[in-house]
Amino acid sequence: MIMGNGYPAPALGNGEKIQDGLPGDGKLNQPTPMASPGWHQVEEAKPTMEDFTAEDWTLLSRQKKDFYSEHQAEQALGFLRTQEHVESFGYQVNNYRHCLQSATMAYRDGCDEELVVCTLFHDVGYLISPDNHGEFAATLLANYISNKNYWLLKHHQYFLDVHARNHPDLDTAELEKFRGNPFFEHTAEWVRRYDQNSIQSSYDTAPLEFFEPMVKKLFSRPSKGKILNS
Ligand SMILES: [Fe+2]
Ligand SMILES: [Fe+2]
Repeated sequence: MIMGNGYPAPALGNGEKIQDGLPGDGKLNQPTPMASPGWHQVEEAKPTMEDFTAEDWTLLSRQKKDFYSEHQAEQALGFLRTQEHVESFGYQVNNYRHCLQSATMAYRDGCDEELVVCTLFHDVGYLISPDNHGEFAATLLANYISNKNYWLLKHHQYFLDVHARNHPDLDTAELEKFRGNPFFEHTAEWVRRYDQNSIQSSYDTAPLEFFEPMVKKLFSRPSKGKILNS
């Protein structure tokens, strides 16, 4: 059966409700439990943000601050962790192991914790935003890292071309546009030492748990606030 909106009617099991032709399991029509039992929820009688009072916003701001201090790093780590068992499309290691291997190399080489964490997350967006994954990682960490490492994350993908010398579609023209930038050499060196070579199946790679304290420390830094890149 095709419904009025053009979508086929979903198959429903016993006990499922239908409202306006949409299926529901009853669980999505209830308040979400809160992260802390001592917190308060804005009343359901205020269905839009326009209804919120100044006290509501103060309450939300306070609870949001505590929520992020507990959950932000774990959310970032969890996103990386979802890639643990994703198949490789031809490399010896998948993207998850590449990230861990790269971060292990940076750690072993004596890089500071900020750069190790940047290295860990440098390709975290590769599976969902391959062409812009540098910007993805840069935005994820932007509030907590130096301008130098932000630039590195954002542009690192262009520097890899230098090492793909037999790639049939090699094009380093984009990279040349960045030559002269004060962070160019820092990024080129990082790619050479920790990115283009962290694709080895037998490398002695540290597990994600090893990096967790560093990640939590980085996300506990004061945020630089909203950053809008036009
Ligand atoms: Fe990358
Ligand atoms: Fe990479």
